[in-house]
Amino acid sequence: MKAIVIHADKSLHWEEVPTPTPGPDDVAIRVHATAINRADLMQRAGLYPPPPGASTILGLECAGEISALGANVAQWKVGDKVCALLAGGGYAETVVCPARHVLPVPAGFSFEQAAALPEVFATAFLNIYMEAHTQPGQKVLLHAGASGVGTAAIQLCQALGNPVFVTVGDQHKLDTCLQLGASAGHLRTGGDFESAVKAWAGSEGVHTILDPVGGNYFEQNIRLLASDGHLVIIGLMGGRSAPLDIGRLLVKRIRVVGSTLRSRSDASKADLIARLRTEVWPGFSTGRFRPIIHARYPITQAEQAMADVASNGTIGKVVMSVTLM
Ligand SMILES: NC(=O)c1ccc[n+]([C@@H]2O[C@H](COP(=O)([O-])OP(=O)(O)OC[C@H]3O[C@@H](n4cnc5c(N)ncnc54)[C@H](OP(=O)(O)O)[C@@H]3O)[C@@H](O)[C@H]2O)c1
Repeated sequence: MKAIVIHADKSLHWEEVPTPTPGPDDVAIRVHATAINRADLMQRAGLYPPPPGASTILGLECAGEISALGANVAQWKVGDKVCALLAGGGYAETVVCPARHVLPVPAGFSFEQAAALPEVFATAFLNIYMEAHTQPGQKVLLHAGASGVGTAAIQLCQALGNPVFVTVGDQHKLDTCLQLGASAGHLRTGGDFESAVKAWAGSEGVHTILDPVGGNYFEQNIRLLASDGHLVIIGLMGGRSAPLDIGRLLVKRIRVVGSTLRSRSDASKADLIARLRTEVWPGFSTGRFRPIIHARYPITQAEQAMADVASNGTIGKVVMSVTLM
């Protein structure tokens, strides 16, 4: 099969590699589309190695058709149209993953649309609702609101009754977030977000913050949290260290959670996928939730597709087609 291979100079090439075969609890998927995640940029740069045992090929999600089944797999059949959360390997013609990490392509969705769903809806649902235990009515602050994760998170919060404040990089992104259901927002290029969020949330503060920025947002985040609030840190785009006023944690009973999806156990990911299937996936058929796709590229243009994501100009996902080769 062919896959994207990273050469020593970090350039990307669509080349022949060995085809993976499924283990007893796995499926093989003939990939028709995959999507780019920030983690792919870091892995390509040598800063984010795949977890032990995972494919070294880039790609954390895909959509396609099941092409082979492990001996223990009964819930899927060859030819089923699926999308999947992957620990790696999505930038390829065939990928292997545990059968329990696979979801059906929602009715009427193209493979490109389906490839834009698993990673961002899993990340948003996991962190806002399973890690932070956000309850209906509680306010949520989303940083990078127009990102892939952010645009999924806004939709989930809108549907589940959680008012959302976003921080974003420009006015067009803010307008898009407001159209998706955010209540208010702030341009990060216009200075600190703290006073704007305080004006929106009032003296109580926000219950949940989903933060891919880390270091340089940490102190403001802590000051904005309500009592019993949760700060879930999912990325370090703004650095990995910050001063901590332990007193504020204590007095407000704040929980700071570090969360990565990729390195979780297969069983933990399977639990998450099962919840997505029952609690989120039906919303794609009814139109409650939708994929937000900024751009589509053929996988042979992976360089340009990744540069698009790295530019910080994208809204939602950048997907790559694998079938048009
Ligand atoms: N821990 C996990 O399990 C997990 C899973 C998935 C994603 N993530 C993380 O979540 C984040 C979003 O992922 P994604 O794939 O949805 O990203 P994305 O669509 O590429 O969007 C990222 C956005 O972040 C903003 N940004 C970039 N640098 C920033 C900085 N220094 N400070 C503040 N904002 C900055 C930019 O938007 P603006 O200019 O509009 O602010 C950029 O467009 C990434 O950090 C990613 O690594 C973590």
